[in-house]
Amino acid sequence: MTYKTFTKAPIISLKLQPVILFDGQQATLLEALEDKKVKIFSECRNGFCGACKTQVLAGEVTYIKEPIASLKQDECLPCCCIPKTDLSLNLSTEGVELIARPLCATAVKKKVLQSRTNQEAIQTNKSNLSISQRDTA
Ligand code: FES
Repeated sequence: MTYKTFTKAPIISLKLQPVILFDGQQATLLEALEDKKVKIFSECRNGFCGACKTQVLAGEVTYIKEPIASLKQDECLPCCCIPKTDLSLNLSTEGVELIARPLCATAVKKKVLQSRTNQEAIQTNKSNLSISQRDTA
């Protein structure tokens, strides 16, 4: 029996908000960010100038070609790398179309039931409180 290995597409988050599922449609991280309308500077797009330098809050990248621009340990050059793992970048989400996971019918039912249960508990507490106040009066 042979098993295929499954590799999950990395998720790119900005300010802890998931924004991009990097599925390999774009050649670089910069292209993926630009496709989502993330505001990021770029000039050479080849790892020379450092204009696209971005702080990585969590995760790792793989360089397609070794960058020339100098980097701190927590920085990357999106123009010449791709995500190796899920990434959290210190970039603004302003103007970016954010991912919203639609609730499935089961999740909606659970939320409604939970809400009803909470309301019933509040009503029961109020009733118990009014009974105890009446009894003490
Ligand atoms: S745009 Fe020049 S290093 Fe990325």
